[in-house]
Amino acid sequence: MKRMLSGVKPTGRLTLGNYIGAISQFVAFQDEYDLYIFIANMHAITVPQDSKELRRNTRDLIALYLACGLDPQKVTLFVQSYLPQHTELGWILTCHSYMGELQRMTQYKDKTAKGETGITAGLFTYPSLMAADILMYDADYVPVGMDQKQHVELARNLAERFNHRHGETFVVPEPIVPTVGAKIMSLQNPTKKMSKSDDNPKGTIDLLDEPAVARKKIMSAVTDSLGVIHYDVENQPGISNLLTILSRLSGEAIEDIVKRYEGKGYGDFKKEVGQAVFDFLTQLQNKYQQIIAAGQIDEIIAAGNAKAGRIADKKVAKVKRKLGLNILK
Ligand code: AMP
Ligand code: TRP
Repeated sequence: MKRMLSGVKPTGRLTLGNYIGAISQFVAFQDEYDLYIFIANMHAITVPQDSKELRRNTRDLIALYLACGLDPQKVTLFVQSYLPQHTELGWILTCHSYMGELQRMTQYKDKTAKGETGITAGLFTYPSLMAADILMYDADYVPVGMDQKQHVELARNLAERFNHRHGETFVVPEPIVPTVGAKIMSLQNPTKKMSKSDDNPKGTIDLLDEPAVARKKIMSAVTDSLGVIHYDVENQPGISNLLTILSRLSGEAIEDIVKRYEGKGYGDFKKEVGQAVFDFLTQLQNKYQQIIAAGQIDEIIAAGNAKAGRIADKKVAKVKRKLGLNILK
């Protein structure tokens, strides 16, 4: 079985965009791959975090992942901050990364271009920590959003560089970027990505939104004045976004939905999308509550940390041997 790994930062709350673009893919992948999913909380602190909020977001994230269908029997779920091997290998890979390479990474580049102040050295070097996260486990595939592809490419370069200098040590990973529903748009501005950090809460559906509130957000989603239900991202971005959401939640193909709505108006269509979102969130939040009540999160994470830790120990020991860092006989 090929190994697949991905990490999620526990910043802000998860949205329907996160579910459709990322989490639902992980759930599908867990049957076909030896899947490792971890909470990248050491990445979260590259920008200031409130400790209480970080803790709450992290536990919510784990519970939501489980509620979305990740099965701890199939996937190894762990929390990065419990595995010091990541920061250790991260440092070693930082020492194999060039300043120029890191300067080209978009997050750092964009923030510097905007003249932002308070950029930490951690934000600058985090792509080499991310490379450590990936190379530690010999991941063959890394499913990520478009914005993260560049970092997986850096991990490939670092793996090749290290193998070349010190002998075969790391598997060279490949990024996987989803194609359908890779970008769910804001309900209020359908040419902009639905994002946790959106200032307008009406544009975003939070996975922990009251289902009735989420339905209202769908009913007041921005559309257009054409009055026909077509999938046309250029001219009808709002309607196309709602079609994508409905299709991904119901499993019905977009063409079939479009056929059903021939000659019908936006009101009925929005009602159906609103109901689908309402039902989805109701079911998800029920499971979420059950998971919290069952109190199994600690147990699941402890098992995941232990399993990941055994692999990480071996890898770091091998890397240290290659570098001449272990001197005791
Ligand atoms: P982020 O919320 O930016 O940390 O992203 C976490 C994961 O969710 C990444 O794989 C993103 O590509 C995915 N994601 C975030 N927002 C959306 C969206 N609006 N549509 C589809 N996928 C998304
Ligand atoms: N940097 C990723 C993000 O901001 C999260 C992440 C950290 C990650 N380490 C990873 C993703 C390793 C995939 C593989 O979303």
